[in-house]
Amino acid sequence: MPLLYEPFDPARDLDEAVRILCYAFAGEPDGVKDWISNAGFANLRVVRDGAAPVATLLRVPMGQFFGGRSVPMVGVAGVGVSPVARGRGVARTLMTESLREMRRDGVPISALYPATSTLYRRVGYEYAGLHLEHRLPVSRFRPARDTQPVRPFTQSDLPALKACYTATAMPCDGALDRGDYIWNRVFNPRSGPCAGFVIDELSPDACGPDGIGAYVFFRQERDPVMGRHDIECSDLVAASPRAARQLLGFLGEFGSMANDLVIRAGAIHPLFALCDEPRGLRTIFREYWMLRIVDLAAALTARGYSSWLSTSLDLDVRDETLPENAGRWRLRVEGGRGTVERGGDGTLRCDIRGLASMYAGFMTPRAHAVLGLVEGNDPALAVAAAVFGSNSAGFCDFF
Ligand SMILES: CC(C)(COP(=O)(O)OP(=O)(O)OC[C@H]1O[C@@H](n2cnc3c(N)ncnc32)[C@H](O)[C@@H]1OP(=O)(O)O)[C@@H](O)C(=O)NCCC(=O)NCCS
Repeated sequence: MPLLYEPFDPARDLDEAVRILCYAFAGEPDGVKDWISNAGFANLRVVRDGAAPVATLLRVPMGQFFGGRSVPMVGVAGVGVSPVARGRGVARTLMTESLREMRRDGVPISALYPATSTLYRRVGYEYAGLHLEHRLPVSRFRPARDTQPVRPFTQSDLPALKACYTATAMPCDGALDRGDYIWNRVFNPRSGPCAGFVIDELSPDACGPDGIGAYVFFRQERDPVMGRHDIECSDLVAASPRAARQLLGFLGEFGSMANDLVIRAGAIHPLFALCDEPRGLRTIFREYWMLRIVDLAAALTARGYSSWLSTSLDLDVRDETLPENAGRWRLRVEGGRGTVERGGDGTLRCDIRGLASMYAGFMTPRAHAVLGLVEGNDPALAVAAAVFGSNSAGFCDFF
């Protein structure tokens, strides 16, 4: 019986899909049902072997900022294959068909957190950034001694909160342009609901006179033996230096009972960089995230570039899974925008995986060349470095 990739049909597939996801992620049926219904049944896909589903995949629509522009992106989560259907190419079919569907839908890029990289590399994803856990003793933040500017978050703050996030995320390559699924994870991470606090921004040149200048969402995780706790942040954002100082001072007020402030981010969290005394900072590797260029022309034209750059880059790309991306392309960059056409002399040769990693600025193009992810002469690698930059993008969100 051929494997069939199809939309999820709740009336037919719910019980079996929940069983597959429970085995895949060691979940409880009720929790899994809540997860997929909150994510939207319309975003779930299955692979059938005959009538019954043998695999699941959840699409998480959002965007990702590159070069100051939001590129439409589909995050992939909930990849699971029934324990009795593993080891015969079901996951590869699931991923290949879901990429073909994204391409038909006009999605430029896709990202995911891999439980195993082999599967995703086979279909063209490559490491693109870091997801690290940073832990800094709360005592490193000087207490404000006046927390007046800080107030609890209310639902009416939501539009201004999102504007504050966007103002800080947009300049960071790789940061998510969050959709509802990711915002819900900020307010309700898997460990339980978070408390939110905001600081109003009075300066008209930051987020506007009615804006929010900084905010934090966190849970206090208590050590049952010692009674002290960690402050685990699901989001920690400041859009101006004044608001950043006030927010860190507010968190410093928890220092009498709190041990660590914990946040996930890329190689650095910008607010931790404001700390006077970083002694005691511990950074723990959690995950790489991976990127897939689904539609090469759309991905290269949707992102932004340095507005001071005027150049062109000739690519010769291999892509077995989505052959529409393969072959020679010329990217022209001018005034911060890119245009793409077929042709050029293919000076920079790469698999679609190498292009994804370079696009995200995971490493310099020269470092990609050392690993065999791209091939090209020195001038071509230098142009690629100017076009894509290198910032080892990371973000606090997990999906
Ligand atoms: C990981 C999982 C989805 C793989 O499903 P599967 O149908 O057995 O995978 P496939 O047979 O299509 O294998 C595709 C490729 O991935 C590789 N792969 C699959 N499972 C792997 C594992 N556990 N470790 C390393 N590589 C693995 C295979 O070797 C194969 O590569 P190849 O073409 O070089 O042989 C399945 O084991 C599963 O559901 N695991 C639990 C949940 C999970 O980890 N989901 C992924 C979340 S990101």
